[in-house]
This record gives sequence, structure tokens and C-alpha cells, in this order.
Amino acid sequence: MKTMDKTRFRKRREAFMDMMEDGVALIPSGSPALRNGDVEYPFRASSDFFLLTGMTEPDAWAVLSKQGDTRSFQLYVRPFDPEQEIWTGRRAGLKGARKTFGADLAHDVGEFFDHLPEILQNQPRLYYSFGIDEKCDARILAVTNTLKQEARRGISGPWEIHDPRRITWRMRLVKDRCDIQDQKKVAGITASAFKAAMRAVRPGMKEYELAAVVEFEFARRGGNRLAFDTICAAGANAATLHYTANDAVIGPDDLVLVDAGAEHGMVTADITRTFPASGRFTPPQATAYRWVLKAQKTAIAAIRPGVTYAEVHRAGLEVLCAGLVAMKVLDGTVESIIESQAYRPWFMHRIGHWLGLDCHDVGPYFVDGDSIRLEPGMVITVEPGLYFRNQPEVPEKYRGIGIRIEDDVLVTPSGCKILTSDVPKEINEIERFIGESKSWWDGIEPASIE
Ligand code: GLY
Ligand code: MN
Ligand code: MN
Repeated sequence: MKTMDKTRFRKRREAFMDMMEDGVALIPSGSPALRNGDVEYPFRASSDFFLLTGMTEPDAWAVLSKQGDTRSFQLYVRPFDPEQEIWTGRRAGLKGARKTFGADLAHDVGEFFDHLPEILQNQPRLYYSFGIDEKCDARILAVTNTLKQEARRGISGPWEIHDPRRITWRMRLVKDRCDIQDQKKVAGITASAFKAAMRAVRPGMKEYELAAVVEFEFARRGGNRLAFDTICAAGANAATLHYTANDAVIGPDDLVLVDAGAEHGMVTADITRTFPASGRFTPPQATAYRWVLKAQKTAIAAIRPGVTYAEVHRAGLEVLCAGLVAMKVLDGTVESIIESQAYRPWFMHRIGHWLGLDCHDVGPYFVDGDSIRLEPGMVITVEPGLYFRNQPEVPEKYRGIGIRIEDDVLVTPSGCKILTSDVPKEINEIERFIGESKSWWDGIEPASIE
């Protein structure tokens, strides 16, 4: 880790401890989950552990303690083990925990639970997120209870238990200058991959081939992990919101909905574009697309500091409802349709979500019962959609059309900035881009085209 980064994570720990009352915080990185036999699922450290340490290794614990002005940061990590490194690669070890990650003290993680009575002894408060790992929860609770049985010796366990996510989630909601640089970087990686997908799309491909183009381009540009499983949905499959089977053949008249995001440096992006495999929208596809695009632009135009999340949602929803009336899917006024929620069969999700270390990032949407007000530094996705399945209320020409358009938007002091604007989304732009661009496949023949 660079010196600059070390400072960044130290400052985050200081901010965390500023918001903590006296006590000790235990933040685990998590352990790999077993897939089968001795094969594990890919491991990703907990975002909160990374937030406060910069470390991404499994089986580690950060211990942050605060008594007045006295503060300490200890790391429990997997120790240097040449035998294990042959199998699973380099690890920071105790030395790296101190030198690279700035721990005041480092220990073998095998000693964590042995040290726990000492760590928790006479601490007024414990900050730990119960409910994620039952086995750890039970061991930590057992230690706190055992300590309380030592009252005659003047020993006690923590009386107050707090969830540290109350602090970390607030920290993660508003991004600082470095965080915004990271968001821009991963947004750029993801945007490039979407342009590649538009260049590569061909009727006759399997959806997973197109998904592979997106993921290959992520990797080529430094996106070392997916923010979530890629959704590549042709035709009616696009009406399944989290479609990940990706195993159908893309038909000649299909729109393809691609919803994907790279992760880079533990930071995620999340883009959706819906485009015609042939390079030309049919008239009904174009009509439905225009309404979704108008809804997205209207919602984005509403974003500025002080506006509530609910107002942004409402701005997009009003346009979608007007579209449903214009397309003769629904009767009535926009007001009455919103009131009765009659739009829900065709738009059933919210306008977007926070974005950051997690794709559906943490942070409140309501404060004291009211929709949260946007502040500069927040990053939100804006992703309206219309999803027409084979339903009798839907005019036949729209059945089997699913459209979502999603961008990542930073709230700025004067309004907002779209971080993913590089990917075409106007109809004429998309048609021109697919039609004119040099084939992504030059020299690479798609295997499923006969
Ligand atoms: N990719 C999931 C979402 O857009 O929320
Ligand atoms: Mn998405
Ligand atoms: Mn999203």
C-alpha cells in the first residue's frame, strides 16, 4: 500500500474513533465460505473492515480501542507461513500488519479468542455487529458474560453493546475527494466495457457470450472483480429484474438489457443499457425506450443538495406513469395512478440506490421517518425501467419488451454529475454507435454464430 493510502486509512480510523464513545470495536474481515469439498467461494473482505484498514485478507480482525485521548489500532492476522503460502499465496503477516497497514500492534489471528477476555475486560462498551457470524457471536457473548462473573475481583465485561455500522454506514454515505476519484475510475472501466458490448452484440450470440465480453473488458481495464453477477437479458428475459441465467440465444429483433458493474480497489459501479441486437430499435421498442429515457433524465435533473431521495423517485415515476397512459397500458391521471400504485406491475423497484464499496451500498434512506436529503458527495444510481411481460393489459406490440437505463450519479454542491455518461443512451446515438463502430470481434469470431 502506498504511503498516501496509509494516511487515508489512518484518517478513516480516526474519524471512526471520533464518533465512538470509550470502548473497543471488533471488526472482522470474514472467512471464505466453502463451496464443496475443499473448494471455497471467491473471498471478498467485509467492506467495513476494508474501510478502516485497507486490508483485504480473510481471517483477520481489527481491534480499535479508545479511552479518552488514548487510542489504539491492533490487527489480528494470519501469520507468515511459508508452507501455507505455497498453497494460497502471499499474506501480510504480523510484520505487514504493522508496516503496511499501520497497526500499533499485530498478533496471530489464532490468538484472537484467547486474547478476547483481556481485550474486553473493563471496557465500558463493545462495538460489534452481531447477526453476521453466529459462531463468532456466541464466543464474543460468552466472553462478555464470563467477565461479568468476575465482579468480586473488580472485573467486568462491557455493559453496552453498540453496532459499529451506525458509524461506518454514515462514513460511507458521503464520499470524500479520494473516494470520488475511485468512483470515477470504476465508472470509467464499466463504461468502456458497455461500449465494447455494444460493438460486440450480434443476433445469434448466447447472452453469456455478450456477458463475457463485458467481463473481459472489465478485467482488461483493471476491474478485478464483479460488483454483482452480470445480467445479460435478451428480449422478454429483460422483464426478470435480476436475470442471471444468461443462457438464451439473442434473437434478431431482441433488445438486450445489460446490467453490470466492475469492482476496482473494492469500489463498485453499476450501469444498465438496453440496446437492439440488430442495431435498430423497432417502433414499439423505441416508444417504450423514449419514456424510460425521459424518466431517467427527469430524475437526474431533480438531483441536487437538499432534494430528498423520495422527490427524485417521484420525478422519474411521474414520467413512467405518463408513459404507461400514452402507451395505453393504463387509464387515468398520473396522480391517481401513483396514488393507487397501479403502475407496479411494470415498474416495481425504486429509482436507485446508494453506490460505493457495495453495489447496493449501505446508508439510510430515511432519517427520523423522513426521506433523506441529498448532500454533496453522495453517489446514487438512477435506474428507471418498464417491464412488459405477456400480460393481457399490455398492448401486444409491447409484450416481451423490458427496458432499464441506469447511470451512476454524484451529488455535487451545485447539482449533480453523471459518472457514466460516456455510454451512449440516446436512440440515435446507440444506433449510430452499433452501426458505425468497428467490430469488437475483428479477429475474434463469436463461437455461437454458425
Ligand atoms: N444491478 C442491480 C441493480 O441495478 O440494482
Ligand atoms: Mn444495475
Ligand atoms: Mn443499480
